[in-house]
Amino acid sequence: QSNAMWGGRFAASPAALMEAINASIGFDKRLADQDIRGSLAHSDMLAAQGIIGHDDRDAIHAGLRKVQAEIEAGTFDFRTALEDIHMNVESRLKEIAGEPAGRLHTARSRNDQVATDVRLWVREAHDRAVAQITGLMRALVTQAERNTDTVMPGFTHLQSAQPVTFGHHLLAYVEMLGRDRSRFRDSRSRLNECPLGAAALAGTSFPIDRHATALALGFDGPTRNSLDSVSDRDFILEYLSAASICAMHLSRFAEEIVLWMTAQFGFVRLSDRWTTGSSIMPQKKNPDAAELVRGKTGRVFGSLVALLTVMKGLPLTYSKDMQEDKEQLFDAADTLELVLAATTGMVEDLQPVPARMAAAAGAGFSTATDLADWLVRSLDMPFREAHHVTGRLVAEAERRGVGLEELPLDAFQAVEAGITADVREVLGVQNSVRSRRSFGGTAPEQVAAQVAWWKDRL
Ligand code: ARG
Repeated sequence: QSNAMWGGRFAASPAALMEAINASIGFDKRLADQDIRGSLAHSDMLAAQGIIGHDDRDAIHAGLRKVQAEIEAGTFDFRTALEDIHMNVESRLKEIAGEPAGRLHTARSRNDQVATDVRLWVREAHDRAVAQITGLMRALVTQAERNTDTVMPGFTHLQSAQPVTFGHHLLAYVEMLGRDRSRFRDSRSRLNECPLGAAALAGTSFPIDRHATALALGFDGPTRNSLDSVSDRDFILEYLSAASICAMHLSRFAEEIVLWMTAQFGFVRLSDRWTTGSSIMPQKKNPDAAELVRGKTGRVFGSLVALLTVMKGLPLTYSKDMQEDKEQLFDAADTLELVLAATTGMVEDLQPVPARMAAAAGAGFSTATDLADWLVRSLDMPFREAHHVTGRLVAEAERRGVGLEELPLDAFQAVEAGITADVREVLGVQNSVRSRRSFGGTAPEQVAAQVAWWKDRL
């Protein structure tokens, strides 16, 4: 039999493959709740404007509530032949409510309907992301607070650079996540306009009230241009961009956990709850969760690039290509939510090993900059010269196979006669860290101040 929605024009039913390529119900059933809310608001407005009767409105409402209950109960029969969530809901509504159901689609098209549904969904995804990021930031700040003076090596080029504190390092991620959070908030505020009432593309001849539906659905107002309303998916792209940047941050942190968990680093431990064993090597404790946080980042980036590619060649207004937005969005959101939750779990579980961190912090001549700074301060040497003198002292220590702090005083003086015994004070990692008191620096009191700043804001 031909299609119930457009059977007037069509005599024959579609080829099986036509149906298969066309259907989106397999994934857009996730928009059921948003779709029903949109229809409730739309039918309210139609009745308030005298476009449909109040009894029709009531029948539509009762029917939609029933559909909602069936979907929640898992008894709803989603049908591929009905293509998508919009037609599945409307067709069931027709079975339940009869003739009034046919009036729901007045002054509306699936084009503005789907744009509205997806905006509602993405808005909620933004809110979930913001809440989860905040939870992760709190977990990081709690760890940072316990570790304001836990010394570890800071790296550039993954070479020991200067000693820092573990708390300081964790707070670096809090800063990144803070920006991620504000990216989500920012794009949420831009998406919060309602496309409903743009109809197919050109608006409608019915006397609708777009401000009323926008308000009822929690939007700041209606979109201004009906063509744009049904054409663009930039609000999804903004979500995917923010998700990609956030996932990239999580991936870098995950990479550090993987590194820190190795026997060679041994900076942190994760409990049995956050590790897995090996089926052959009994000694293993693998940071699989961290690896998967790192690995799943690819899916989120992939979604962003996939949707950008879908959109780039589409003339205005709606094209069916745009149906491809949903799987990318859902997969990216599911992935982001999973990796945010897993990262939070790992941060809460993470046990630093301060002795290993401190030992590594002193390796690799990591206080060489402190020595150069001492020469500048104590001998009034220009920094470039101090850099050169320190370089010669590092070479000498390296030749002897000792750290800078183990170099005898006469070896210091052979390179620079003015050096005195109190140079040793700056060669220890604790002193090095404590001296970096500049705003935002790694000194424990600075880190404590940064912890306090965040605690006020989380
Ligand atoms: N399932 C469609 C989508 O997700 C809904 C819009 C269909 N509009 C149309 N003109 N065929 O894009």
